[in-house]
Amino acid sequence: MKSPKTVFVCTECGAQTPKWLGKCPHCGRWNTLVEEEVTPEVEAPRTARRTSMNGIGGEGKATRFADLTVSSYIRSETGLGELDRVLGGGLVTGSVVLLSGEPGIGKSTLLMQISDALGQSRKVLYVSGEESGGQLKLRAQRLGILGERLYILTETNLEQILSEANEIKPDVMILDSIQTIYSDKINSAPGSITQIRECTLTFINKAKSEGISMLLVGHVNKEGGIAGPKVLEHMVDAVLYFEGERQQAYRIIRAVKNRYGSTNEIGVFEMTDRGLLEVANPSEMLLSGRPKNVSGNCALCTIEGTRPLIAEVQALVTPTVFPSPRRTCNGIDYNRMYLILAVLEKRLGLKFYQNDVYLNVIGGLSIDEPAADLAIAAALISSLTDRIVPDDLIVIGELGLAGECRAVANPELRVREAARLGFTRAIIPYRNVEKRPISVEGIKIIPVRSVYEVIKELKNAE
Ligand code: TYD
Ligand code: MG
Repeated sequence: MKSPKTVFVCTECGAQTPKWLGKCPHCGRWNTLVEEEVTPEVEAPRTARRTSMNGIGGEGKATRFADLTVSSYIRSETGLGELDRVLGGGLVTGSVVLLSGEPGIGKSTLLMQISDALGQSRKVLYVSGEESGGQLKLRAQRLGILGERLYILTETNLEQILSEANEIKPDVMILDSIQTIYSDKINSAPGSITQIRECTLTFINKAKSEGISMLLVGHVNKEGGIAGPKVLEHMVDAVLYFEGERQQAYRIIRAVKNRYGSTNEIGVFEMTDRGLLEVANPSEMLLSGRPKNVSGNCALCTIEGTRPLIAEVQALVTPTVFPSPRRTCNGIDYNRMYLILAVLEKRLGLKFYQNDVYLNVIGGLSIDEPAADLAIAAALISSLTDRIVPDDLIVIGELGLAGECRAVANPELRVREAARLGFTRAIIPYRNVEKRPISVEGIKIIPVRSVYEVIKELKNAE
């Protein structure tokens, strides 16, 4: 018998090669090629191929730009305001959303909770390829969900799922998870790139042609990518990452792609014994349990989307026993840390090179805004000199290479949030108040021009 024809598919980018290679010629990653059987063309109908990746299809005719009309999106609220915000104001009818995260982070819990809320006005079909009906029911009971208009299907076969969906005609479909679903028409194993891609494409076509909103769950592999196919990200309308430390209760959801909204917003949840609770006031959460009177701690303010978030950065600077000192950071970009250390050494003559440096942002938050620079610098100086940054002082500002404090965006929004949380003093760059002074009740503004002045003000503030 003729052995089946196979190709090698990259699990990261989906590129195919006829031979095995150590490195994918397309995306350049190592050890990502896996062997898969080729599906005969006859079995995959040509009409399906004509549909574009995002399922919009092609009319084959060009339209004058002026004649195009703007379609307005119909959105449904999911019952979780934090998730709605990340989605851009609710779940868009006919959109396909990929929710990805590590196993055990709470994806199924989140989807079960929203399917209940969505079920108030729409028909929801929850397809689970991972848990039995009994397990789902148990979870729903724990979450206090009645699920009167919720349909559960425990099935992994694509054709079966489609035929059930045609029967039930849901408005919203949840597919938990896309990696477990397989089509009879494709020879390769469930979870392989070809299976995932073809199944997703089928769901996208269905979503677009029938106006069904789809939520796909995608597991994340150990490198942090969506297991196997990055290809999935290109096909769907929105990609949401559900993140957090499994040992900690807090979970953050963020959009890395969204055709219907901004990708800057984050949603914060707390995992409790009765499911996920929204955290409307993340700053309070991030500041809870702050150690008092300890050196190396400083409050910072970052803006995620439209929302200011106050968090805390902790630094630990200890004499090194290594020939080259250790530098570790969590939640802050490595290069940013090196840059801040270099500026402090050069401009203030501080001897960090004799010390190990550990930096951590509390709450599993990652900060990618330069507005946190001065707070990081203050925490480092505080730990090195063993002097305490007072609890009621917040430090805002970007640090330039010359040691200058540079203006940040939205200073007033940050100061207001700080005042709301009980801070009474804010160090902020002089440039921010030069032309238009900021006055917020209950908080004193301390303008600074350089990192040297920051040190002076920290000493004054003690
Ligand atoms: P789950 O939603 O199954 O995660 P995923 O689908 O992402 O793999 O839930 C994961 C964890 O959440 C599980 O270890 C138990 C915990 N959990 C709670 O703490 N409280 C709850 O109410 C529920 C339903 C789950
Ligand atoms: Mg799950």
